[in-house]
Amino acid sequence: MLEVAASIVAEVSKLRDEINHHNYLYHSLDSPELTDVEFDKLFRRLKSLEAEYPSAVTPDSPTQRVGAKPLEGFEQIRHELPMLSLDNAFNSNDLQDFDRRVIARLQDESQIEYACEPKIDGIAVSLLYEDGILVRGATRGDGTTGEDITHNVRTIESVPLKLMGTDYPGRLEVRGEIYIARSTFKSLNQQAEAEGEKPFANPRNAAAGSVRQLDARLTAKRKLTMFCYSVGLVERGELPLKHGEILQQLKLWGLRINPKLAIVQGAQACIDYYNRMQLDRDDLDYEIDGVVFKVNSIAQQTRLGILTRTPRWAIAHKFPAEEGVTELLDVEFQVGRTGAVTPVARLKPVKVGGVTISNATLHNMDEVGRLGVRIGDIVLLQRAGDVIPKIVGVEKKSENGKKILLPRKCPSCGSDVVQSQDEVIARCSGGLICQAQRQENIRHFASRLAMDIEGLGDKLVLQLVEAGLIKTAADLYDLSLTELVELERMAPKSANNLLAALEKSKDTTLPRFIYSLGIQEVGESTARSLAMHFGELEALLAADELSLQRVPDVGPIVAKKIARFFAQKSNQDVIEKMRRLGLHWPAIEVSAAADVLAGKIYVLTGTLNQMNRNDAKAKLQSLGAKVAGSVSKNTDCVVAGDAAGSKLVKAQELGILVMDEQALVDFLAEHNL
Ligand code: IVH
Repeated sequence: MLEVAASIVAEVSKLRDEINHHNYLYHSLDSPELTDVEFDKLFRRLKSLEAEYPSAVTPDSPTQRVGAKPLEGFEQIRHELPMLSLDNAFNSNDLQDFDRRVIARLQDESQIEYACEPKIDGIAVSLLYEDGILVRGATRGDGTTGEDITHNVRTIESVPLKLMGTDYPGRLEVRGEIYIARSTFKSLNQQAEAEGEKPFANPRNAAAGSVRQLDARLTAKRKLTMFCYSVGLVERGELPLKHGEILQQLKLWGLRINPKLAIVQGAQACIDYYNRMQLDRDDLDYEIDGVVFKVNSIAQQTRLGILTRTPRWAIAHKFPAEEGVTELLDVEFQVGRTGAVTPVARLKPVKVGGVTISNATLHNMDEVGRLGVRIGDIVLLQRAGDVIPKIVGVEKKSENGKKILLPRKCPSCGSDVVQSQDEVIARCSGGLICQAQRQENIRHFASRLAMDIEGLGDKLVLQLVEAGLIKTAADLYDLSLTELVELERMAPKSANNLLAALEKSKDTTLPRFIYSLGIQEVGESTARSLAMHFGELEALLAADELSLQRVPDVGPIVAKKIARFFAQKSNQDVIEKMRRLGLHWPAIEVSAAADVLAGKIYVLTGTLNQMNRNDAKAKLQSLGAKVAGSVSKNTDCVVAGDAAGSKLVKAQELGILVMDEQALVDFLAEHNL
């Protein structure tokens, strides 16, 4: 075993602390101090040190979040303290009754202090920390018995693998809700749809499906997060005496708590909190289905006690269901950035959860067929995680309902609408001649996660396209002040601001730039992987489908779409123009991962237990290796599984490097495979 120098141990430990700290700032406090590039640099340095000194790797290292091997099944665990549920209040009267019951039981109190929190619509979990190390994550299950989901919980970046500080109890169980942010849900579904997969019904379903994956690598892709809202077991240590203070203490140990926590006095203040949250609800990046009120003093909680499965000291005040029923007046078809033609329902306006709804999405023609909906029907609407509400069913069929038909021609440019066999989405074939596609493309380019061009909103994009001033996103960068001020409602000040914002956006990063191009199926994370892999745009432009497939997350379908995008002359021209007009980004240091095995010849022999032979072969090939069937003096390495026979003997005779299965698994894992 390699002796690890003290200076390396110190550097590894310092890097881990730094990474954990910045992870905490980013994922738990939402106030990052480093850019992604700076953070990645730290992370890559740690990874490379750990690869060089494997004995320095510890399970709580931030590089060890995602396990390489799927589980066979879930183990049942028994909660040492049951995970309770909450009694519900459906209106202010119920809440006042609850408050009166609390006061009556406590006898000596007239006004109770309550902790108020949003009720997160996700999945309840328990995290167990022993001596500050995360040792187990479990689902709530029936409250008594749940499932061990440690491997998945470890992938959640807002869940510390190791608590910060030193003053935590020896054993500490933290409870909370795992969920998927609305923004993440949206991109997951966009990706699912682009890949022709079934979208998730809502963020809760997506989160529930993700925590119950056997393969943590899939869970990691779902970008779950968590709010902690209470503690269970506490041993060998003390916690503060008030619920709100306990949560603040959890935050200091690195756990994520909800920023909307409020401590108030009396029932009326709880009702005010409920009303405020109902107004704020749509602005949150997570779904809530009500609020929770908890008696703040732990001493009072203890005196109040538990009623079989629900505590007497807490209550959930639920929001009214966000569903509504109305008439489907018409269906129009909208054309998106990638030409997707989507049916949009025009509805007789109806109030759903306090908001008037007159449009809803019908997703695609498959969905229309599945719902069996016709124009004129009375439909059931739901406001889910997305801002756009959707039709989820038909309440009452109209006697002379009109069938919904996919238009043959694009409603924007008149080109043919085509429906390929391998996806459910119909698309306009007009490409860049289609104004709707151009417009959506430019909107995407300017959006916050893309080039983030302040002041360039949907209306202005429409105006610029309609006035013929821009055809592609590149044209934005040669707009002049004279052209802009001639637009209706464009004062010289706004025009100057826009020009300044455009100028500012020229200084960008490669991941953002790639994402901005709006390549089908290239979301933020794929754009990032592409940037990290190729390091510079030229290398990406030159890549063929096979080399694209070596990028993590890029399969054959996505590789084909990317290669096709860059092969198109019109796209090359747009990119060339943008660069000519000054768009630039810092170079990225590329890990040589893609080519680590370039030119090497591997032979697989014996039985592999952790993966099948085809997988192993594909993974080695993705690192550039050739996989041969027999051993010769040209062979560079033989991977010997169980009961390897003559090939192993020959390799030993020829003095060729031999790896066992575990070494291969570790090696692949180092390269994220
Ligand atoms: S407290 C005894 N706080 O709602 C305390 N629960 O039916 C039990 N939930 O299973 C939970 N947000 O999954 C609490 N801020 C919050 C919550 C919350 C969501 C869920 C939790 C629980 C269910 C209660």
